[in-house]
Amino acid sequence: MASYEYEICFRCHSGDAALAGNYNTYPQVSRTFGSLDERERFDWGSAKSWHPVAKEFVRVGNSQGLSLKSASMTMIYCNDCHDSHGSGSHLLRLENPDTFSQGQSISNYPLCYSCHDETYLTSSATNIGKLHRAHVWGQHNPLSTNSSYRASCSACHDPHGVPYKAGLTTSSNALHLINFDLRYAGSGSSYDASTSSCLVTGTGTSGLSCHPTTTGTASFNPYPYP
Ligand code: HEC
Ligand code: HEC
Ligand code: HEC
Ligand code: HEC
Repeated sequence: MASYEYEICFRCHSGDAALAGNYNTYPQVSRTFGSLDERERFDWGSAKSWHPVAKEFVRVGNSQGLSLKSASMTMIYCNDCHDSHGSGSHLLRLENPDTFSQGQSISNYPLCYSCHDETYLTSSATNIGKLHRAHVWGQHNPLSTNSSYRASCSACHDPHGVPYKAGLTTSSNALHLINFDLRYAGSGSSYDASTSSCLVTGTGTSGLSCHPTTTGTASFNPYPYP
């Protein structure tokens, strides 16, 4: 007997058949650390970071859930985001654009903002707010004054969890659900939580380089964070 919803989902969406892509209809968003075995991504014992689906979120140290709209939220369901009887891309309940077209509003992330507070995440007074303004709102100044250079939540964050990958994920990378979308970031790109810095290098499969230098090759995050 399954006690939790996710255990039912894992009956199909984990294990070798899932890993081989047997249960997928839509093109997968390809990320630095990939896995279609959803258990690997939500496994609180091994995954590097995860949305609290299989284990409760506990407030400790710097991790106080400050971005949450509801302070009492400690666990979420697969079907908070999905409707497994639904339709549309990845059977999502609310929109989560993974590309950002020029005309799109900077607030157009209804899925993520249904639980996370946009005002907190884009405050001009905090480093985390500055980081998100720079990228989500396109206020990269001084890197660029061109506010059309915007990145969606999905360009940087994995909506599930970042699976442990031997020799690749370390104690400081792959945290905070950072798992770059390889359309926009080269496969060698990484985020180091111990120094709060990104190395976003190379060209994504879309042909775009997020941080091109003047010579158009590799790049470092010029935005000091925090
Ligand atoms: C009995 C096996 C089975 C179970 C259990 C199951 N699924 Fe699925 N799921 C599938 C199959 C097969 C597909 C692909 C075919 C389709 O689209 O209907 C799929 C597709 C999906 C997709 C779309 C995948 C994509 O390509 O984006 C999502 C999301 C999903 N399921 C979520 C869930 C969630 C959440 C649960 C638990 C509430 C669940 N599934 C339980 C078999 C299962
Ligand atoms: C149903 C509610 C819900 C939705 C929808 C949701 N989150 Fe979360 N998220 C949470 C909870 C609960 C936590 C755990 C509290 C925390 O870490 O602050 C969390 C944590 C996070 C963290 C911090 C993880 C860490 O290890 O530091 C990030 C980043 C994040 N979510 C990004 C997203 C993004 C991007 C989306 C949209 C794809 C999203 N969330 C959608 C509930 C949600
Ligand atoms: C915070 C929101 C959120 C939660 C919770 C969530 N998903 Fe997803 N899921 C997404 C989004 C967004 C995508 C689209 C792919 C992407 O952006 O990487 C996705 C994609 C998928 C896919 C397609 C394959 C893939 O991995 O890309 C499957 C299958 C799936 N989810 C199943 C599940 C199951 C099973 C659970 C619970 C164990 C779950 N999801 C929990 C947001 C969520
Ligand atoms: C350019 C990459 C990037 C983009 C785009 C991005 N984020 Fe983040 N986000 C980060 C990084 C890096 C952190 C971790 C910062 C830290 O604490 O070191 C973070 C942290 C977070 C946290 C944890 C906040 C906390 O204090 O607990 C949440 C929630 C979050 N992001 C949600 C989002 C949402 C929602 C979007 C889209 C509206 C988004 N992010 C877009 C890079 C990004």
